[in-house]
Amino acid sequence: MINIQSLLRENIKKLKPYSSARDEYTGNVGIFLDANENSFGSIPAGDLNRYPDPHQHEIKRKLSIIKNINTENIFIGNGSDEAIDLLMRAFCEPGKESILIMPPTYGMYKVAADINDVNIIEVPLTSAFQIITDEVINNIISSTKLIFICSPNNPSGNLLDRNSIRTILNSFNGLVIIDEAYIDFANEESWISELESFSNLVVLQTFSKAWGLANIRVGMAYGNEEIISVMNKIKYPYNVNGVSQQIIIDALDSESTKNEVVNKIVYQRDKLIEALSNLDVIQKIIPTDSNFILAKVKHANNVYDYLLENKIIVRNRSNIISCEECLRFTVGTEDENEKLIEILSKYGE
Ligand SMILES: Cc1ncc(COP(=O)(O)O)c(C=O)c1O
Repeated sequence: MINIQSLLRENIKKLKPYSSARDEYTGNVGIFLDANENSFGSIPAGDLNRYPDPHQHEIKRKLSIIKNINTENIFIGNGSDEAIDLLMRAFCEPGKESILIMPPTYGMYKVAADINDVNIIEVPLTSAFQIITDEVINNIISSTKLIFICSPNNPSGNLLDRNSIRTILNSFNGLVIIDEAYIDFANEESWISELESFSNLVVLQTFSKAWGLANIRVGMAYGNEEIISVMNKIKYPYNVNGVSQQIIIDALDSESTKNEVVNKIVYQRDKLIEALSNLDVIQKIIPTDSNFILAKVKHANNVYDYLLENKIIVRNRSNIISCEECLRFTVGTEDENEKLIEILSKYGE
């Protein structure tokens, strides 16, 4: 059992959090004259004059049923990017402490560390985008507080080996954060099911991908109660707006629709992989468990520009470690994918 309090920054340990009006009175019936809101309503019309639930109770209640987890183990954030930043701010002393990441990986871990003046230890993945477990463990130093593992990994798309992750969880006295933004597209169980076995595990998920709700910025962190309560203590009081909360509350009644859409995306992904692999311009396709495909192409910069000229925007990852000459293709609709293949097949004509 890891001692979370001993991992925390001193100022966070001592912090007395802001107490909002909605913290001090939680009922919803009465004449509300406590929060300096506009009692005459909102402009434009729409019930938007009251502050939202700062603790997102209804979202947590529904999620706890779907994920089979207690509400105390759920943090809801303004995208999972907020959770990444909060973990850094709670646990890493600026200028002194460090996180460990495994490039190529999601860019926000580094950006959040840089913003918070937290040192970064990089232990690259293999050329097949897997963890070099011994290297990770050998590179942990006394100041290392967090290890970020992105699985399925962005930008490569593949799941990272479960045994490697388990070894890291067992060997590290800090927190291991597994970012599962793309887990719905993978054929593997979420690490949420292992939260009871590892008190140092935090799992990140998001409504931005499978649920198709990137616009409204809602992500979650799952972890032991102590970690989640620290995140709640330091977040902005009303970090998830009420419009977003209501959309999520409604969406959570449509999990089966989400699953159907995921199946459609996975079907299109597999079709797209096959079509791409028949093109001369494609040299290698990285096996993916996500809603995107990383592919090595002949002259990535030129192909990228050519696609742009044809109004097809993909992500050029060719300047990133282990992704030389690689482009990342998000799976589109059937029509979009067909157009992509049609344009790509004419490249160089
Ligand atoms: C691995 C990974 N984690 C997190 C995010 C961000 O998620 P959110 O929209 O919830 O902030 C992304 C977005 O692309 C991502 O690729």
